[in-house]
Amino acid sequence: MDVGYMECVNMNNEELMRLACEAAQNAYARYSGFCVGAALLTADGRVYRGCNVENSSYSLTMCAERIAFFKALSEGCTQFRAIAIVGGTEGNFSHPCCPCGACLQVMSEFCDGDFSIILSNGEFTLDDFLPMRFELSC
Ligand code: THU
Repeated sequence: MDVGYMECVNMNNEELMRLACEAAQNAYARYSGFCVGAALLTADGRVYRGCNVENSSYSLTMCAERIAFFKALSEGCTQFRAIAIVGGTEGNFSHPCCPCGACLQVMSEFCDGDFSIILSNGEFTLDDFLPMRFELSC
């Protein structure tokens, strides 16, 4: 039975990247031709995958990262360790695909600054990408 996530022990960056590449195969990128895949590792060792899903009403498009997060969150997972992200055209994922600002803001709601963001050119943290966050607290 497909439960919508994968159970993993000893997940490493290479394997998480491979799962992100696999996720990108399901991208619905009819308008941009740019396929994105994400593999999100939860604190309890699950991996939720996501791909971008575009729409003819362009602004309704949803990014791969947020789909992975929303899948996990809607299943009750709220603690996260890392996300691997790939993106590109014609199956070429060699150029690093950085998460957009909207996805970083969603990550910042649930992740600490040391949350790991794995790209084709190495491993970064959420703090690297978003050193200052929007927060409602004053
Ligand atoms: N996209 C993502 O999936 N993640 C991002 O962080 C930025 C952009 C998608 C949205 C759209 O389908 C395509 O990439 C081109 O913008």
